[in-house]
Amino acid sequence: MDKFVIQGPTPLNGTIPISGSKNAALPLMAAALLGDGPTTITNVPKLKDIYTFNNVIRVTGAQVDFDESDEELTINPDNIGHLEAPYDLVRKMRASFYMLGALVGKYGKAKVSLPGGCAWGPRPVDLHLGGMRAMGIDISLEEGYVYAQAPDAIGKASFTLEPSSVGATINLVLASVLQADKFVLHNAAKEPDVVLLCETLAEMGADIDGIGTNTLTIRGVDSLNSITVRNAPDRIETGTFMIAAAMHPDSEITLTGTDPSELGVFPEYFNKTGAACTIDGTDIHIKAPDEIRPVSIDTGVYPGFPTDLQAQWCTMMTQAAGESTVTDTIYDDRFSYVPELVRLGADIAVEQNSACVNGPVPLSSASVMSTDLRASVSLVLAAMVAKGTTDVLRIYHLDRGYEDLEQKLSGVGAQIERVDQNEED
Ligand code: UD1
Repeated sequence: MDKFVIQGPTPLNGTIPISGSKNAALPLMAAALLGDGPTTITNVPKLKDIYTFNNVIRVTGAQVDFDESDEELTINPDNIGHLEAPYDLVRKMRASFYMLGALVGKYGKAKVSLPGGCAWGPRPVDLHLGGMRAMGIDISLEEGYVYAQAPDAIGKASFTLEPSSVGATINLVLASVLQADKFVLHNAAKEPDVVLLCETLAEMGADIDGIGTNTLTIRGVDSLNSITVRNAPDRIETGTFMIAAAMHPDSEITLTGTDPSELGVFPEYFNKTGAACTIDGTDIHIKAPDEIRPVSIDTGVYPGFPTDLQAQWCTMMTQAAGESTVTDTIYDDRFSYVPELVRLGADIAVEQNSACVNGPVPLSSASVMSTDLRASVSLVLAAMVAKGTTDVLRIYHLDRGYEDLEQKLSGVGAQIERVDQNEED
């Protein structure tokens, strides 16, 4: 198992290219299963979650070719014969559950393992299943699997997501674009990943009204074409590096290949910290403030503050001059990283779904580990401003969602090294 050994504190100076988005690529991969013939997705990051989903898709008999040097993924669904996503793969990544919408959407039938819990709570799939039931799809649960069987024809149906859910919106769109006579989804998610999925399906020939709004109206079409589509830049990676740059007063970095229009309210809050943020086309230039101002945030659905940047923000606030609160309204229990930051010296108290942060405190080195992707990257951010040598353990979480993290950070001056723990022990 690898770990990062990080020597701090170091300012960051230089340029970081932003990778393709993991969370946007996964639904596009599921959408490729709905087309006839091979669909190619470009700008796909080389990440563990992408490899996992490739393997989930291959189980069905679909052909998956990942040209890693060009980051181009081609999926040909023409030989699909096995309508199943097994537990062994689904348990590795919740988004494998998109197979339910894709398989039932194209073939009217699927057997997909329930994803189970995750590091920050139960994360139910009741809305995914409720929406399919509203379409008249027969859903039964047996031995940890969802069995779905669509009727000969899906008539008119509607469903309201409460709360709004990215994953449920994606699954219900996938399930309905070929099957439903007319399906109206209320309170649909309008995160950029959902918008890109809908736009891609529309380009393949789907009939979707209301793309980018909270109400999607889908009228089934007979077939979908295969296309070539470019995946979006990773907005969470972008926000993570913006925060990294703001945390050390002598840092100045440029992020290239971003899509600033997909950042929602994030830049607004970021500017309130005193950090200078200049947008020039697809480049974002960040200059750290001499002193970070404390800025409280509440996470919210897009364009609100993303829950996937909550842990990184909380980490930055440990260096801000004063008190701030970080409240997660999407997930109640997404603060597993806080005790690890406290081990580095942070002053943070968690009550229910809020963290109260007092800063600035000088952080100093320790061994830390975390249980999920965004929490782990926050420990890397903290380690880069902590005095001394910090070991960040269990970085397999990071490999799920941050492409070439140590190369990108060491390229702008961080002292970060990947070490095989087994070799060292
Ligand atoms: C996606 C993202 C994840 C991000 C999250 C919120 C991917 C692969 N993952 O996760 O990184 O943190 O959006 O932006 O893109 N809910 C229910 N019932 C359901 C489904 C969801 O109650 O059937 C609740 C959840 O518990 C949560 C809220 O809805 O409180 C939003 O979750 P959701 O948008 O579904 O998150 P994911 O799609 O799983």
